[in-house]
Amino acid sequence: MALKLRLMGKEDLPQVNAIDHEAFPTLWPPANYHRELKNGLAHYIVACDEEKEYNPPAPENTPPKGFSGLLVRLRLRSNHKSEPQPAREYILGFAGLWLMAGEAHITNIAVRESYRRQGMGELLLIALIDLAVELGAKLVTLEVRASNTTAQSLYAKYGFIEVGLRRGYYTDNREDGVLMTIEDITSAPVRADLQRLRQAQARRWGKTVPRAAR
Ligand SMILES: CC(C)(COP(=O)(O)OP(=O)(O)OC[C@H]1O[C@@H](n2cnc3c(N)ncnc32)[C@H](O)[C@@H]1OP(=O)(O)O)[C@@H](O)C(=O)NCCC(=O)NCCS
Repeated sequence: MALKLRLMGKEDLPQVNAIDHEAFPTLWPPANYHRELKNGLAHYIVACDEEKEYNPPAPENTPPKGFSGLLVRLRLRSNHKSEPQPAREYILGFAGLWLMAGEAHITNIAVRESYRRQGMGELLLIALIDLAVELGAKLVTLEVRASNTTAQSLYAKYGFIEVGLRRGYYTDNREDGVLMTIEDITSAPVRADLQRLRQAQARRWGKTVPRAAR
């Protein structure tokens, strides 16, 4: 696998939406990544396998025959011109944060189901923390569903500690949100911990952990 991390672009949205749908299949309103890309506070990255090509699924509806079909085909063609072409790189996962008043707030991390448990979540989290440092944040926070012990365990591995509970935070099922934070991501102990985890991932991947190209 030729792994690359880079900032998310519009051309990634078909794959990002599909991964989001797979990762968060609840009634919780899905994130609008189109809007997120225009949001100056938001920063999103994607992890791709450059050796694998993404083939977008064929459109489901074939336009009807005759004049109405011709109109549909013309409309599809004009939309097609204005919409960016989907990225050809195969996206394995994505993650994002919002930067507000010196704090980075992680909005999402998601990995394609078939690529989980291989360290991809860790690579994305390392890249987000690096990005937060580059953007001048001192602190990283996030909310995670109380039932999502998988993600909590990932965050705990990276030094996030539970600092509070938002009761009924998730409006779809009134589930509590666990508030987790790492204080002072620029401090020597946090940097040393991150470096140790980065090296462990580098050994796993057999090469340096890539940084998100900006
Ligand atoms: C959470 C998620 C991003 C983890 O991605 P991943 O690539 O599978 O995770 P990694 O392989 O990098 O695992 C890193 C750590 O996460 C934790 N973890 C991952 N999968 C786990 C599982 N099934 N059970 C328990 N812990 C798990 C472990 O602490 C693991 O460290 P370890 O390998 O030393 O045990 C992925 O499961 C996912 O996309 N889930 C759905 C979306 C989601 O819940 N996002 C978080 C929203 S706040």
